[in-house]
Amino acid sequence: MSVAVKTNEYKTSLINNRRYLGNKYKLLPFITGVVNDECPDITSIADIFAGTGAVSSAFTDKVIITNDLMYSNYICNYAWFGAEEYDPQIIIDCVVRYNALTDLEDNYMTDNFADTYFSRDDCAKIGYIREDIEVLYKKGDINTRERAILITSLLYAMDKIANTCGHYDAYRKGVEFDKSLELYVPMANRQNNPNNQCFNMDSNELVKNIEADLVYIDPPYNSRQYCDAYHLLENVARREKLVGLLVA
Ligand SMILES: C[S@@+](CC[C@H](N)C(=O)[O-])C[C@H]1O[C@@H](n2cnc3c(N)ncnc32)[C@H](O)[C@@H]1O
Repeated sequence: MSVAVKTNEYKTSLINNRRYLGNKYKLLPFITGVVNDECPDITSIADIFAGTGAVSSAFTDKVIITNDLMYSNYICNYAWFGAEEYDPQIIIDCVVRYNALTDLEDNYMTDNFADTYFSRDDCAKIGYIREDIEVLYKKGDINTRERAILITSLLYAMDKIANTCGHYDAYRKGVEFDKSLELYVPMANRQNNPNNQCFNMDSNELVKNIEADLVYIDPPYNSRQYCDAYHLLENVARREKLVGLLVA
């Protein structure tokens, strides 16, 4: 259930307001109970298959190391746990501006995904917003954490309305798109522990170079690749195809 809070101009979201295969948010009371019983004195935790970052979110009083192979997860983890400070007003202003967008031109998203996972108009918005975030970042108007928070807001908004059963293997044909894209302001801590680190690499390599009192290991349960299930979020987060189109 969403815990979004309505304000006059925008809604807010928390780390668990997304769907993700193997998300451990509901297991947090069990996980924190075991940690408190077995190793109450730890001061650092490495969540090396972090996914949504739900497990890390239960340990914000400690130094947190997150890692995930998917860039879309890395971006969300950096948004929630990054050591860099950010200006909440910048995020609010962008979210309000993005939600007011209408009558947008075609772009990479409309050309490739109109009326599949999203309606044509929502594809136009997604493509425009992702491009705009990069323009702001390149101009120096937003820092790396603000960029990550805005991309996270976009990914969560996409997840909320996607015409799927939660992942992007397939979309339902012939349905009416009854929800439209609305970005929320992620309620990320402004000042996280300055020693937090977020990585985007193979855990088998990362573990050779990091240290933590506790390592939480939650790998995929089978050979199914997460990037297959979440390719569209990954595509938008990485913006690789958008860059390809601009260069062409
Ligand atoms: C079961 S999920 C973790 C869920 C997470 N605990 C949560 O609560 O959201 C496994 C994660 O491992 C990531 N992954 C798969 N292979 C990896 C690798 N070699 N190195 C780092 N991450 C990997 C996947 O992208 C996926 O997000």
